[in-house]
Amino acid sequence: MIREKNIQVEAIKIGTVIDHIPAHFGFKILSLFCLSNTEKRITIGLNLPSQVLERKDLIKIENFFLTQDQINNLAIYAPYSTINCINDYEVIAKISPLLPEYVNKILICTNSNCISNSELINSCFRIKNYSGEIFLKCRYCENEFPYNILISNQINLFSSL
Ligand code: CTP
Ligand code: ZN
Repeated sequence: MIREKNIQVEAIKIGTVIDHIPAHFGFKILSLFCLSNTEKRITIGLNLPSQVLERKDLIKIENFFLTQDQINNLAIYAPYSTINCINDYEVIAKISPLLPEYVNKILICTNSNCISNSELINSCFRIKNYSGEIFLKCRYCENEFPYNILISNQINLFSSL
């Protein structure tokens, strides 16, 4: 008889587990934190079954803890993710990232005429919350983009690079 096991990926002794990442964003987050080319031991789970999301990605990084800036950036791509800090195999803290006021560098403006796409300028968006509806306003072309649309376009923009 084959018994189903609950453990989807091996437990870690010390480090960080980023859980509940929306499916397909795991790789993006690894490259965002420049983790794809480190010596750290990383386990990544893609398209795992989840009770909260339909499918989720999960990243475990041993001997590594996120900085506050990295937590803010994570909020952009995975606002409902959970950052678990692990010590001696125990979860010692669970952090829910919060959307910051400004998002610098990491997003590309989807307005092809925007100066931030043609010059060596770092992109900058201000997060606007209209009664729970999140928009990102580009500092340069001043367009406001619905959060979900801009974020899903990032995945397409990155895969075409
Ligand atoms: N985890 C791990 N190594 C450990 C402890 C936990 O890799 N030594 C992972 C678990 O596999 C899980 C995440 O860290 O993916 C959070 O652990 P835990 O809080 O125990 O799990 P849940 O209660 O399922 O978390 P949540 O309620 O946030 O979904
Ligand atoms: Zn713009």
